[in-house]
Amino acid sequence: MTKGKLEGKVAIVTGASSGIGKAIARRYADEGASVVVCSRNIDACIKVRDEIQKKNQQSFAVRCDVRIEKEVVDLFANTIAKYGGIDIVVASAGISGGNKKVEDYTLEQWNNVLETNLTGVFLTLREAFKRMKERGGHIIVISSQAGVEGYSGKGAYCASKFGARGISHVLSEEGRPFNINVSSLCPGTVETPILAASNTKVKHPMSVDAVADAAVFLASLGGNSLIRDILLERMNLN
Ligand SMILES: NC(=O)c1ccc[n+]([C@@H]2O[C@H](COP(=O)([O-])OP(=O)(O)OC[C@H]3O[C@@H](n4cnc5c(N)ncnc54)[C@H](OP(=O)(O)O)[C@@H]3O)[C@@H](O)[C@H]2O)c1
Repeated sequence: MTKGKLEGKVAIVTGASSGIGKAIARRYADEGASVVVCSRNIDACIKVRDEIQKKNQQSFAVRCDVRIEKEVVDLFANTIAKYGGIDIVVASAGISGGNKKVEDYTLEQWNNVLETNLTGVFLTLREAFKRMKERGGHIIVISSQAGVEGYSGKGAYCASKFGARGISHVLSEEGRPFNINVSSLCPGTVETPILAASNTKVKHPMSVDAVADAAVFLASLGGNSLIRDILLERMNLN
C-alpha cells in the first residue's frame, strides 16, 4: 500500500462539521493523518469523526466555538493530551456576513462577522503557534478571494478575510525560526452551505475537493519552502 502524504501527522481542523473544513478533514484522514474535528455543533462533528474512523483512521470530535478563548485553549490542550503533539492546523471556521452595503451595517452585525472570522482565527493561530513551536508544522488559514479583492456588499466579510490573511502573513514571518510554515488559502466561490447564507448564486462553483487538494499540498510542503498565499480561482466564471 502506498503511504499517504500526511502519514503519522496530527491535524486540527476548525469548522470541520461542514463544507470546506469537512472536506479537508476527510482528505487529511485519507492521507494518513489523525484528525481532530471541531466546530460548535458536536453532533455534526461526531458524524465526520465516525466516517473517518470507519476508514480505520484516528479521529476525535471536540465542541469548539472559536470565539470563546477557553474553548480554543482547551481544544489544543486536549489534542496534546491525546496525541502528544500537533503538526497541522487548519482554521476554516467562518460565517458569511450576508450581503449589505457598508453604510447599512450596524455595529453589532459588523462585530458578529469579525468575531468569528478574525478574532476566531487569531485565537486559533495563537494557540497553534504556542503548541507547535517545539517541533514545527503547518498552519493554514482559510481566507478567501474576498481577502484579496473587495466585493460590493461584502464589507465585513472582506475586512475579516483581508485581516485573516494579514495575521497569517505576520505569523509566517514569526514562524521561520521555529519551522512553522503558515499559509493562507484563498478560494473563490466554493459549493458549500455558506453560499445560501450569503445569497450567492453562481452556476459553476468550485468543488470542495479542489480546496482540499490545495490544503494537502500546503500541509505537505517541505524542502525549505514557504507559500504565503494560494489564490484558488474558479475556471468557469459563470
Ligand atoms: N464557500 C465559499 O465560497 C468560500 C470561499 C472562500 C472562503 N470560504 C471560507 O471557508 C470557510 C468554511 O466555509 P464553508 O464554505 O465551508 O461554509 P460552511 O459549510 O457554512 O462551514 C462553515 C464552518 O464553520 C463553522 N463555524 C462557524 N462559526 C463557528 C464558530 N464560531 N466556531 C467554530 N466553528 C464555526 C461551522 O460549524 P458549526 O456551525 O457547527 O459551528 C462550519 O463547520 C469559511 O471561513 C469561509 O469564509 C468559503
